[in-house]
Amino acid sequence: MTILAFSGSPRAGSAVSHLLRAAAALAPSGTTVAFYEDILSLPHFSPDLDGPCDSAPAAVAALRAQMQSADAVLIATPEYAYGMPGSLKNALDWLVSAGSFYQKPTGVLSASPSEVGGERARSGLLLTLEALGAAVVPEASFPVPFVRTKLDGSGLVLDAAFAEKLEQALVALAATVPAT
Ligand SMILES: Cc1cc2nc3c(=O)[nH]c(=O)nc-3n(C[C@H](O)[C@H](O)[C@H](O)COP(=O)(O)O)c2cc1C
Repeated sequence: MTILAFSGSPRAGSAVSHLLRAAAALAPSGTTVAFYEDILSLPHFSPDLDGPCDSAPAAVAALRAQMQSADAVLIATPEYAYGMPGSLKNALDWLVSAGSFYQKPTGVLSASPSEVGGERARSGLLLTLEALGAAVVPEASFPVPFVRTKLDGSGLVLDAAFAEKLEQALVALAATVPAT
């Protein structure tokens, strides 16, 4: 099975991307984790540009193909001004007509240096994912407060209890997909 680790950060060296890399390293055996970290390649969404996969802009078609081939998604957002980054909302708008998230098992994380861990952004993200029909997996969905104490600049997990929580999140997400 394949889990798509979907970073909602537009930033190079992002804490959210480090978080997803750390989670991937803890995935159960038999799980492949693919990464989407190309959010800045997407054009601004407009319904005027929104066509079927074979006529969509190349970056959009690539995103839709990655979503299509994933059995489950682990999405993570930073918090910008109490919301998700505009670039992440833009990516999700491109996925509406494709139905990419419909019934897709999805873990929903946020991370921030603050004590609420980006929970306000995560709340907004959950609302959008509800509109898209994602099947949110509660055990794989939580905010990560004080992210700089949990991961170092290279994405190494610094906190054993947190590593355990991340590992359990990946196990829960993988368990949503029947073995083939
Ligand atoms: C424009 C901007 C707005 C931000 N607003 C918030 C905020 O409202 N709440 C918060 O906890 N952190 C806020 N932050 C801090 C980010 O959450 C923090 O930089 C985080 O590490 C970004 O994630 P990233 O490293 O994955 O890009 C903001 C950062 C920027 C650049």
